[in-house]
Amino acid sequence: MGIIIAQNVFTLHTDNSTYQMKVDDKGILLHTYYGKRTDETDYSYLIAMADRGFSGNVPQSRDERDYSLDFLPQEFPVWGSGDYRVNCLQADLGTGVEDCLLVFDSYKMYHGKYALKGLPAMFASKEDRVDTLEIILKDYQEEFYVRLLYGVYETYDVITRAVILENKTEREITLSRVMSTCLDWNHPGLDMIHFYGRHAEERETERTPLFHGIAELRSTRGASSHQHNPFVILAEKNTNEDMGQCYGFSLLYSGGFHIQAEVDQTFQTRLVMGMDDSDFSWRIKQGGQFIAPEVCMSYSSTGLSGLSHNYHNAILKHLIRSKWKEKQRPVLVNNWEATYFDFNAQKLLEIAGEAAGLGLDMLVLDDGWFGGRDTDYTGLGDWYVNEEKLGCSLGELVQKVNDLGLMFGIWFEPEMISEDSRLYREHPDWAMVVPGREPIRARSQLVLDMTREDVLDYVKDRLFSVIDSANIQYVKWDMNRSIAAAYSARLPREQQGEMRHRYVLGLYSVLETLLERYPDLLLEGCSGGGGRFDAGMLYYSPQIWCSDNTEAVERLRIHYGTSFAYPLSTISAHVSVCPNHQNGRVTPLKTRGICAMQGTFGYELDLSKMTEEEKSMVRKQVKSYKAHYRLFQFGDYYRITSPFENHDFTAWEYADKNGREACLAVVFTNLHGNPISHTVRFKGLCPDKKYKLFRDQEAVGEYTGAALMQGGILLPIPKEDYDSCQFYACMEEKEGEKGN
Ligand code: DGJ
Repeated sequence: MGIIIAQNVFTLHTDNSTYQMKVDDKGILLHTYYGKRTDETDYSYLIAMADRGFSGNVPQSRDERDYSLDFLPQEFPVWGSGDYRVNCLQADLGTGVEDCLLVFDSYKMYHGKYALKGLPAMFASKEDRVDTLEIILKDYQEEFYVRLLYGVYETYDVITRAVILENKTEREITLSRVMSTCLDWNHPGLDMIHFYGRHAEERETERTPLFHGIAELRSTRGASSHQHNPFVILAEKNTNEDMGQCYGFSLLYSGGFHIQAEVDQTFQTRLVMGMDDSDFSWRIKQGGQFIAPEVCMSYSSTGLSGLSHNYHNAILKHLIRSKWKEKQRPVLVNNWEATYFDFNAQKLLEIAGEAAGLGLDMLVLDDGWFGGRDTDYTGLGDWYVNEEKLGCSLGELVQKVNDLGLMFGIWFEPEMISEDSRLYREHPDWAMVVPGREPIRARSQLVLDMTREDVLDYVKDRLFSVIDSANIQYVKWDMNRSIAAAYSARLPREQQGEMRHRYVLGLYSVLETLLERYPDLLLEGCSGGGGRFDAGMLYYSPQIWCSDNTEAVERLRIHYGTSFAYPLSTISAHVSVCPNHQNGRVTPLKTRGICAMQGTFGYELDLSKMTEEEKSMVRKQVKSYKAHYRLFQFGDYYRITSPFENHDFTAWEYADKNGREACLAVVFTNLHGNPISHTVRFKGLCPDKKYKLFRDQEAVGEYTGAALMQGGILLPIPKEDYDSCQFYACMEEKEGEKGN
């Protein structure tokens, strides 16, 4: 078991990390250590006690002036206790004042992993080396309990945290803030690595030193958002891809979130992470509880690659539930950029026919197949097949697609409603609109009140009836706007602050029912591309459309950022047409293929308009992706260069976990009059083994793993803008498995 408890000291060990807490003589749960695996020494000796002047002293310490929560490292700091730093909890226990002081009550531990009702959470089976520790804190006077949950994943160097608040008082308790995790360090000087962006430019990577004050990342949009991602890394200054200490924090939640990192007056660092608290309030009735979402933390002493591998492995094994996670994903063609709203069954079958001939596996019918949806101003909510537009029933279309040898997938945007729709005319109160006020529209659409049972029933009924009407094997679940004024006609005034969280719970409940009913369905998450790319959604969908920006060179940055937290098999990526629809850039088809293989591969263009030469390239790409899908989906992913630092080329690699084979891809992002040759080094091979090396399927020699990893390989000189190449190294050549 990875949990060791001795004299009020709780030590959690994973294979390569240790996390420690201690209950001190005042009953406060201190945080004493998180870092490289060590022993069970009580690390509270590192806490320096001193009178901090204006900082409050807790009642237990009375006049002991050098005891203040304001500088003590804690597991769950609360507002109103004399700690003025960012905190985990603001709760009014019934007095009208937010003050609360938590002391240790009890603990329990057990083998296996706790679950969180109604929320995504990492899971484990009996055989896994996973244990749970629950530490129960209690207000020092009131029957208000805080259960801190810790899931220790020994093999993956991951520790999860979640919080359950329980009201056993005689009064109603009102919360205005609940963060799921807090981590304190007794030193400053950490860098924050985070992933900001905007629509079609998601997860740009920024590394910035923390400063005295509070660095904040948040989404107030009702979804995890394009603007920030609920994943953050704190790293020591010298940490790079291959060495150094770093800590990751991933929130398993798809609504708004809040991350704060504070360097305080005594040069300590604190990070808190949890649900967005900007207009949050929640009332816990007598006997009731509130469950806050889970955070998945990981520590790496082997740099950022090590941290990413921890997350990739843990997410694949312990978060994604879909049967598809281990299966070869279908190579699909999506008709969105091929036709937008302008299609009928004949056009779709033309694309499907080409797709079948080129070796693809699935046709995905995107937006526009339902209600009066011929533009993005109308029809959302009317999930009835527009047979007039298609020229046949959905069942007939799908049958024809299946007859071509392809699977069929379909797009929905279930959380939305257009004012120009039958649904809105019948149920205007189902939209989130504050009575007597004009709605805040975005993409000319409104958001359904997903907190209402009748709305959820309607959404499920429509989804199920469409899915049951044809052989549908994939659903793309889209969400194309942020929530503005969050209002529910069903909630009383004093509970409107619960709306945003209730919305997310409603969404999760529909997704849960959908997957229970269709366990074989391949669900792809989407929100205007990657506006809801978070670990919460991965509990339901094994892949997520990464960005509405399908342009290969821009995707280099987007995939680079996304790869820090999320496995490559979760990143949906398509080859699209040139000039690209988002930025007009022209790139070679070969490069577009190599870039889209950095994820779950597909196409999003009119295959019937391609030249024979292009089709033959597509055939090769599909064959190559299928031959290497294990490597691409499950290999260890290495960011070889950063597109933010290296402006000449971007390189990345997938290596088999046993080092038997690896594929290193390079895209040249600059051309020079007098070019120089660059070298890059493979990672993750076995130094003493011999590898055959291929470049774009041509054998280029035999090298030892040591040579490829220490000496490296010489890159060719690019011949055109955004030229690219793929190197494939394998211990034994396997026929038909030689790279792009
Ligand atoms: C946004 C998605 O990201 C696109 O791929 C496409 O499905 C459109 N919505 C359709 O409206």
